[in-house]
Amino acid sequence: MSALFQPIQLGGLNLPNRIAVSPMCQYSAVEGLAQTWHLVHVGGLALSGAGVVVMEATATEAAGRITHGCLGLYTDAHEEALGKLVTEIKKLAPAAIGIQLGHAGRRASCRPVRDRWKGECLTAEEGAWQTVAPSAIPYDETWHEPVAMDSAALERVRSSFVDAARRADRAGFDLVEIHGAHGYLLHQFLSPVTNHRTDAYGGSLENRMRFVLEIAQAMRAVWPREKALGFRMNSTDWHPEGLTQDDADTLAKALKAIGVDYVVMSAGNLAPGCKIPPAAPGHQVEYARRVKAATGMTTMAVGLIATADLAERIIESGDADMVAIGRGMLDNPRWGLLAAAECGVDVDYVPQYIRSRPNNWIGFPIAHPKARPIVGTRQMDRPSSGGWDRPDVVTK
Ligand SMILES: Cc1cc2nc3c(=O)[nH]c(=O)nc-3n(C[C@H](O)[C@H](O)[C@H](O)COP(=O)(O)O)c2cc1C
Repeated sequence: MSALFQPIQLGGLNLPNRIAVSPMCQYSAVEGLAQTWHLVHVGGLALSGAGVVVMEATATEAAGRITHGCLGLYTDAHEEALGKLVTEIKKLAPAAIGIQLGHAGRRASCRPVRDRWKGECLTAEEGAWQTVAPSAIPYDETWHEPVAMDSAALERVRSSFVDAARRADRAGFDLVEIHGAHGYLLHQFLSPVTNHRTDAYGGSLENRMRFVLEIAQAMRAVWPREKALGFRMNSTDWHPEGLTQDDADTLAKALKAIGVDYVVMSAGNLAPGCKIPPAAPGHQVEYARRVKAATGMTTMAVGLIATADLAERIIESGDADMVAIGRGMLDNPRWGLLAAAECGVDVDYVPQYIRSRPNNWIGFPIAHPKARPIVGTRQMDRPSSGGWDRPDVVTK
């Protein structure tokens, strides 16, 4: 019996297994609009065997995009483009589809990763824009100097998260993940390294959490209970003056009290001077374990979970409730199906790919020597239980 392939209820969402595709920026949007690339990319991952695919960090306002190529969800056109994508994918593939909503704050107005050999920040000629942050502290001396957000800016950004959540719901997403990690705007508010405010939004941890909790609470009020609402946070800043794991526990407790359904425990990217230990397999699982133990919150572990064996052990041990897989899914967009075979679990395939199912293809154990034999019927002899054999019909 595999723990990884036990169903889970995430908020109001029923997922068939504990695997999520972690959000990954594609830098392939035009004016924030989803393109054919997103359909191909997310569509492929929706066939990965993961229970849910979480789409990349998507900005709630134009100034919140990391790059010109980042997705946005702040106009009707953005909503329509993402709505079409979700509708088309759901006709064909079984995974739930989520979206990460965020704002880059002082880390906005950058070049996409493929152009960063030229330097991180956009120049004026390239269309750089004014960045915002809790305090007017640039990432370092080579970065744009952000404007400290006044009360009108706080209200505008708060509303932008709520509006984007409404749009995500109308577009058909099953899950929204609030991006509160990796040194972007919400994390900038949380950390004393980046938040030097002297008003009600700075100073004590309670004050630094205020903006984030106001946003999460307002999003909770508009995001349906039958879907899932999550929050990605840094468990520690790895910085002598930064957030600690105790702070992460406090934040998770507050998010849980608001009704946020899960947290993803990540780390990194807040500011220069953070001393992050070298990554090892499952190097952030400990944070998920800690928060889960301290708060009882549903947790996702993420970070260098490259093998099904490790994912299975994380869930089996109870260290986390789910695993989010990033680069492993880019490497092998059938990661979840292969994980099922390695765990000896019989899962549905879409009819188009049924000839490659472990019991249907004698090449499977040759291609994947770690796959365990699945005892049961030849799956071509029984109908698909997922209903995915009628691609013209929206079944969920
Ligand atoms: C290409 C790429 C883009 C990423 N974009 C995002 C993102 O949009 N939001 C986010 O929270 N994390 C992002 N990440 C981090 C991943 O979601 C994940 O946390 C990280 O890669 C560690 O997991 P892994 O070892 O399974 O890749 C990105 C990672 C990669 C490789």
